[in-house]
Amino acid sequence: MKKKLYFGRLKSRQISLIRELNFKKFIKNKKIGNLNHKKKLILEIGIGMGENLIYLSKKNTQSKIIGVDPFKNGMVNVSDYCINNKVKNIYLYPYVFQKFFVKFKNLRFNKIYILFPDPWPKKRHQKRRIIDEDFLRKIIKILKKNGKVFFSTDNIGYFENVKTIIKKISKIKIKRIRRVVTIKTKYYCKAEKKGNRINSLVFFHS
Ligand SMILES: C[S@@+](CC[C@H](N)C(=O)[O-])C[C@H]1O[C@@H](n2cnc3c(N)ncnc32)[C@H](O)[C@@H]1O
Repeated sequence: MKKKLYFGRLKSRQISLIRELNFKKFIKNKKIGNLNHKKKLILEIGIGMGENLIYLSKKNTQSKIIGVDPFKNGMVNVSDYCINNKVKNIYLYPYVFQKFFVKFKNLRFNKIYILFPDPWPKKRHQKRRIIDEDFLRKIIKILKKNGKVFFSTDNIGYFENVKTIIKKISKIKIKRIRRVVTIKTKYYCKAEKKGNRINSLVFFHS
């Protein structure tokens, strides 16, 4: 039986036909397949509404920024922003990361961001979490030799679990960081509102 890869909502609000059409046109014109490892590439997995992706595109004008997430409202939000502001360095992949990995195995990234992935706090739901050993090994495979992966969460159990798995993987160094690596995304704000502590780390090839 095929393993289910996505447990979230694909759409939260109605999207107008014109926005849908603009989005489709955007995807058609910005082919990820045209990128290659020689470019400076940044990947964000699970962009939500896309706040961090847009922030990264402004901060890294010489890089190509790819956002991966099946959540349609976020994707359309970002494509609207790019069209209205003539942003040229953002690319979108509106499906799960697992599919992206199979399709674009040859790309190598300078930076990879995974911010506030769904925590699935109930024990019986924890196998739905996107980050497990297999996921981390895939991430490391597509990370450039001098690349870095950034991860933040306000779920302490998830944070500790990710740390434990990374420590098991050889030739990978891990560093806890105090500074949160993003601007205030929707889930950053939710964590703040709940008074939750946000934990962040970075890992890279040793
Ligand atoms: C809790 S939200 C966090 C969004 C954003 N990073 C933020 O900080 O506001 C988690 C996001 O991960 C996305 N997601 C879940 N599973 C995914 C997968 N397998 N591949 C890519 N994105 C995924 C969800 O659609 C959702 O947008």
